Amino acid sequence: MQVFITAAHDAALQAGVLLKENWLKTKQVEIKTDMVDLVTNVDKAADGLITDMLRSRFPTHKIIAEESARSGPDSPYCWYIDPLDGTTNFAHTYPHFAVSIALAYESKIIVGVVHDPLRNETFCASRNGGAYLNGNPIHVSSAAQLDQSLLLTGFPYDRRRRSAFYLGYYEAFMLRTHGVRRSGSAALDLCYVACGRADGFWEWRLHPWDTAAGSLLVEEAGGRTSDFSGVSFDLHGEQTLASNGHIHQAVLEILQQLASDM
Ligand code: IPD
Ligand code: CA
Ligand code: CA
Repeated sequence: MQVFITAAHDAALQAGVLLKENWLKTKQVEIKTDMVDLVTNVDKAADGLITDMLRSRFPTHKIIAEESARSGPDSPYCWYIDPLDGTTNFAHTYPHFAVSIALAYESKIIVGVVHDPLRNETFCASRNGGAYLNGNPIHVSSAAQLDQSLLLTGFPYDRRRRSAFYLGYYEAFMLRTHGVRRSGSAALDLCYVACGRADGFWEWRLHPWDTAAGSLLVEEAGGRTSDFSGVSFDLHGEQTLASNGHIHQAVLEILQQLASDM
């Protein structure tokens, strides 16, 4: 296991250097889909750096990275890479983005690393090995009541076409909590739940590279992940819910109520 943690950590830190060197520079920004789904030349460079590094260390592993085609032979080991989570922030020089790298073995995430290069914070977890921030153990919050919680969320890239749908969720939680934050990096949102800076997170339509590392961090930090009906979290599913565990049931009740009202 240690060899995988070290590789993920090294790759995330190296890509982090690239992001930090470039975040204030002029970037080439392209639109991928839906007018608001951006990609920059730095996303692509970081993707190349990480995939090259992992491919040279583990040539028999499969790699699924956001900005490059699926590569590698068929293998029970599969890397999920988001070279830059928070591209919209990055493109606008808003200082909140991260590198996210995870390894799955037979479809189960076993290693997750999320690195925030501007704050120099590295979140790291391994299955049954605990969750850490810069080497120190982390744990989810102890908030027990939804009305005393801080939640995080994000809006998927089809938000212009489905704004009323997504805002219905936002409103429901805004009215029942201390607040809801939308900071633009799902990987960091999950890590912030893992280390107790927030109590829960929900989002529709994330991709496996957004959630692979962060979901393991939440679980290893003592929290809970699931879909919006309480079924085990599916990396390839449309619904991501993560919490400190204590408020999970209360969040699920709201989500189910919203689903039945729509
Ligand atoms: C996005 C971020 C954002 C979330 C989007 C993601 P990207 O990832 O995680 O917080 O709301 O749904 O796609 O495009 O910056 O890697
Ligand atoms: Ca992402
Ligand atoms: Ca990305």
